[in-house]
Amino acid sequence: MTANQTTLKTLPADLHPDYLPNHVAVIMDGNGRWAKQKGLPRRAGHKQGVDTLKSLLRCCKDWGIGALTAYAFSTENWSRPLEEVEFLMTLFERVLRQELNELIQEQVQIRFVGNLTALPQSLQNEIHHSMEATRRNDGIKFTIAKNYGGRQEIVHACHQIAEQVKNGLLGLDEIDVQLFEQYLYTAGNCDPDLLIRTSGEMRLSNFLLWQTAYAELYVTDTLWPDFDRAEFHQALQTYQQRDRRFGGLKSDTV
Ligand code: IPE
Ligand code: IPE
Ligand code: MG
Repeated sequence: MTANQTTLKTLPADLHPDYLPNHVAVIMDGNGRWAKQKGLPRRAGHKQGVDTLKSLLRCCKDWGIGALTAYAFSTENWSRPLEEVEFLMTLFERVLRQELNELIQEQVQIRFVGNLTALPQSLQNEIHHSMEATRRNDGIKFTIAKNYGGRQEIVHACHQIAEQVKNGLLGLDEIDVQLFEQYLYTAGNCDPDLLIRTSGEMRLSNFLLWQTAYAELYVTDTLWPDFDRAEFHQALQTYQQRDRRFGGLKSDTV
């Protein structure tokens, strides 16, 4: 660990502990570009990206942030070359198996969101095992979006609600925002306060379309494998300067 990383082990003094986001969501983008810049194959970027995610999870835990959600694979990522898709699935499964004991010890509560039934069976088994093994943990809530699409999630919720109405179990007038949220993959999670996207793209790419309605957006040109504690510190500094109005007036306007 470098001197800089050691000093960042505890919450940096310029961050106010009372105004940290409860929930941070990340679109981990730029693995391929990182690898290309170094003359390496794309998979080297994905491998390095896993280490970045592990470090960010630890950092959130160290700094007292209650929930982290990471976009690991979108419903649109299937359109990549088969070799890359297979590599990502295998990497994911291996990392999950390797890290599970430590995650259990560290009281991390793991959850997966997305259409999990379309994933390879061995990965599904690992996913269900990890969720079950960490279900009673009371530390940071770590959600991984795998084969996730925000539009698909909303349509899936609509199907389930329609089914309930059709069967006479739910009345039309009972459908409101609170009820709808209970049918999303993320039911029970609080909405992200801060959404970070690395590598400079100014788009959501189908991530948490419903849940980010009032998230503060932070986009950095830094590529995901290079997103370290110092970068996260900067994102949190920016977040703490925002005035979250939720449709109301500036906090100093009375
Ligand atoms: C993000 O990095 C990882 C996934 C989408 C799985 P990319 O693979 O999208 O990297 P770039 O955008 O090509 O650099
Ligand atoms: C978003 O990145 C998906 C993940 C990070 C898993 P992409 O690289 O797939 O997004 P686009 O294609 O640039 O919109
Ligand atoms: Mg990308």
